[in-house]
Amino acid sequence: MNELNQEINRRRTFGIISHPDAGKTTLTEKLLLFGGAIQVAGAIKAKKASKHATSDFMEIEKQRGISVATSVMGFYYNDYKINILDTPGHKDFSEDTYRTLTAVDSAIMVLDSTKGVEGQTHKLMEVCRMRNTPIMTFINKLDRDGKDPIELLDEIEDKLQIQVRPMSWPIGMGKSFKGVYSLLEKRIFLFKPHAKQDSQSIEINNLNDPLLDELLDDQANQLRDDIELISGVYPSFNADDYLTGLTTPVFFGSALNNFGVRELLDCFIQYSPPPQSRKTETGTISVDEPTFSGFVFKIHANMDPKHRDRIAFLRICSGIFERGKKCLNVRTGKSLKFSTPTAFMAQEKSIIEKAYPGDIIGLHDTGNIKIGDTLTDGKSFLFKGIPNFSPELFRRVVNLDPLKTKQLTKGLQQLSEEGVAQVFYTITENKQVLGTVGALQFDVIQYRLDKEYRATCRFDTLDYKRACWIRGTTQDIESFISKRKNNICTDVNGDYVYLAETQWSLDREIKENPTLNFRYTSEE
Ligand code: G4P
Repeated sequence: MNELNQEINRRRTFGIISHPDAGKTTLTEKLLLFGGAIQVAGAIKAKKASKHATSDFMEIEKQRGISVATSVMGFYYNDYKINILDTPGHKDFSEDTYRTLTAVDSAIMVLDSTKGVEGQTHKLMEVCRMRNTPIMTFINKLDRDGKDPIELLDEIEDKLQIQVRPMSWPIGMGKSFKGVYSLLEKRIFLFKPHAKQDSQSIEINNLNDPLLDELLDDQANQLRDDIELISGVYPSFNADDYLTGLTTPVFFGSALNNFGVRELLDCFIQYSPPPQSRKTETGTISVDEPTFSGFVFKIHANMDPKHRDRIAFLRICSGIFERGKKCLNVRTGKSLKFSTPTAFMAQEKSIIEKAYPGDIIGLHDTGNIKIGDTLTDGKSFLFKGIPNFSPELFRRVVNLDPLKTKQLTKGLQQLSEEGVAQVFYTITENKQVLGTVGALQFDVIQYRLDKEYRATCRFDTLDYKRACWIRGTTQDIESFISKRKNNICTDVNGDYVYLAETQWSLDREIKENPTLNFRYTSEE
């Protein structure tokens, strides 16, 4: 096997999808611990700081620094190179969170056993579904009294429309939590609160083994009944069904107590996909194609107006990236060269000489790169699948200093290129409307417009809840627009977008206009 194929096969690039407080940070910390990654405590502390961030401006700056540091956390485990891409979920929830999921090969979904499937998980799952991203599920906090495990599995299937395949089964929960039975390994893993080491496990090939009664007392029979029940309901795990996004293997555990995490990680490296080939506008680029290619899914700007440089996060999709070698930005036709590309290993950033498919690298940019850009050193093509996502919060921009109109326009344009917000223009008055998926983004924009562009503006809340890109024949679109003028904007590419006041009004329009296609993302 050549160098490229070897490196591809040992890479795993994934994101964690969860609702705030389900345990994503705690699980990440434990995974990094297994990988022997250093400065883990720092990562957690930083996350906590961002979690409790107010809209205070100092906090915004602090938070931006933190999110660069934790954007990508790479580590080695059993000779696998694992890249965890951060999917911010608290106040810093934004379109970046969605876009990050376009750069992963698989995801781990963390659910709080006391809460079940919550709102943000649902939204992130929709994004995963766009590319049939394989998902493993970790049901967390079994040390607390939570929902019944069967109820939790039903909830996943009902709400998320994905079939479940339990890989382990909990023995009790909360105070009576004894551990899990691994259906894959046929072993009992015994729970010990606050364990620093791996949990003790005992092979139980036959559930009628009296050893089970010795270990579990009166909970042994309950486990036997449970296993009989679930074996009848759920077919056994099939790797292909997981890889095509049809089923999700489910683990039970407690991240805080380091319980069930290693089993999850071992199964993850065994079954999760290495970097995959990617769709482009003209076909598919094979991951082991020798020429380098990648796309930009996130941009971080330096907030210091004296240094308006940025870091572009590039996901490598094929070939080998080499420091200092020329590559092409297909959108602009410009040739670019990066002398200080960085890799992200846990908390540390370091300059790299080479990077491989699945890796995320940071490229220093002075304004040549936009989100969604394709970089390549081979033939010219554009990657698909890095769309804009439907915002849920909208504000009209009111310029408070007419002398600074130019600065305001430039600032908004650059901030939208960085993906901080989307800018739309009303078709009736050509007024600027900003759309985001997280409220904090508006504070960030206002602060940055003031600090970096010296533009002052006010945001007036608009009562829209969803935006949909409209597709259809020119005639049908024009006829719809003439009826709904006040709800129509154009995006930066001049595409028509319908802003809906409620989900109900959107559903009504979808029903009444069957020849039109209302899309939640900007891409076909
Ligand atoms: P997030 O990144 O998904 O938002 O969640 P995070 O890991 O920050 O965890 C949210 C809270 O849940 C934390 O408590 C954390 O300690 C707790 N937690 C995580 N895993 C488990 C678990 O397996 N069992 C129990 N009982 N709790 C768990 P906190 O009080 O918000 O923070 P802290 O003061 O404990 O740091």
